[in-house]
Amino acid sequence: MSADLKDMIEQAAMARANAHAPYSGFHVGACIRAESGRLYAGCNVENAAYPQGQCAEASAIGAMVSGGDRNIAEIVVIGEGERLCTPCGGCRQRLSEFAGPKTPVHVCGPEGLRQTIPLGDLLPYAFIADNLVDKI
Ligand code: THU
Repeated sequence: MSADLKDMIEQAAMARANAHAPYSGFHVGACIRAESGRLYAGCNVENAAYPQGQCAEASAIGAMVSGGDRNIAEIVVIGEGERLCTPCGGCRQRLSEFAGPKTPVHVCGPEGLRQTIPLGDLLPYAFIADNLVDKI
């Protein structure tokens, strides 16, 4: 495992430890490595008004954009339970805004790396800026 990936898993785990998930009890942490090399972590942030809750990936993307980066090189997501915690459908779309089909998504559990899946396998037909080429 690369030193980068080790750092990313560590940062995602630290963010996950701060997850605000009182309603689902499901704690998630994410870490993005931007092409600049900088790492951005985030956790899920739930809300008493359920639809206002935010996934860990969305938090990490918000931190990345606020930090001035726009291109994702690699993503780590740490969930819990036996099943793979792959990004939800909405987060696959969110990630596709800043990542390509080959961008690796490292799916982890609390114990460590479980599987690495290219974003394009998770969302083969993303709606992307090219769809709007005549509009923007
Ligand atoms: N969740 C994430 O943060 N990321 C995912 O990829 C899947 C689901 C969160 C949303 C909600 O706070 C909790 O997990 C249960 O769905």
